[in-house]
Amino acid sequence: MNFRDYIIEAQKEKWAIGQFNISNLETLKAIVAAAQKLKSPIIIGTSENESKFLGLEETVALISAVRKKSGLPIILNLDHGKTLDYIKEAVSLGYDAVHFDGSKLSLAENIDITKKVVEFAYRKKVLVEGEVGIIFGSSELHEEKIEVKKEDLTDPEKALKFINETKVDTLAVNVGTFHGLETTGEKHVNIKRLKEIKNKVKNQFLVLHGGSGIPEKDIKEAVRGGIVKININTELRLAFTEGLKKSFSEDSKESVPYKYMPEVISGIQKVVEEKIKLFGSNNKIK
Ligand code: 13P
Repeated sequence: MNFRDYIIEAQKEKWAIGQFNISNLETLKAIVAAAQKLKSPIIIGTSENESKFLGLEETVALISAVRKKSGLPIILNLDHGKTLDYIKEAVSLGYDAVHFDGSKLSLAENIDITKKVVEFAYRKKVLVEGEVGIIFGSSELHEEKIEVKKEDLTDPEKALKFINETKVDTLAVNVGTFHGLETTGEKHVNIKRLKEIKNKVKNQFLVLHGGSGIPEKDIKEAVRGGIVKININTELRLAFTEGLKKSFSEDSKESVPYKYMPEVISGIQKVVEEKIKLFGSNNKIK
């Protein structure tokens, strides 16, 4: 089974595959341990910045090594690729999937560049995610409130036009969520808009970004409403940072990374396990 087979199954059976972002080996180890325990397919994401920090070649090599060792279906996706050049580099070096985020461009420009991404990626059998409707925020804690207004939500007509012209495999949509977590306030999925988009685009695979901090009820409804891929980053970053802070609490004299990191890893693993169960992707490996 490849990525496409899994999303077809997910659509049919109404569950979603998690994309978990990484910028270090410890987070990767935690995600893989959770996937192995729960027999779940997973997508590993790296944004442009995360992949620059880890190194594109190093990321591809790491994924290839853990895939071989674990026997798990692990897909490596470039998250929010901003330029055709960077996407081409990731594809050429061995990424399995790429997300081109042209959401800040005009629809015509977004379609134009996405078509070029699709043309390049398809030759290498790499899947492409497009984006219509800007998804605000960044994957961290926000002091300020992010307000997603009605006019920011993905327009179903525009989504359909984009899909018909670009032939992307998956589409990221703005249905009320944003990247990151607010210190005050909650995130919600606008189920009404999701259903309107789904009715328009029919069997197109839809992706939910900004997966951290969404109440369980909203995630379940989103999956029932046609979301087949959910991206999670902030909650993993927080688990990593909090775990590390705890291990460096005042009375700790520990200075050996391989001695204090296991606890940090198990904290992240716990978060990933919860998400996998919530998305319903456990026991889906065939
Ligand atoms: P969160 O940081 O809110 O989990 O969103 C992640 C994401 O959508 C990555 O593309």
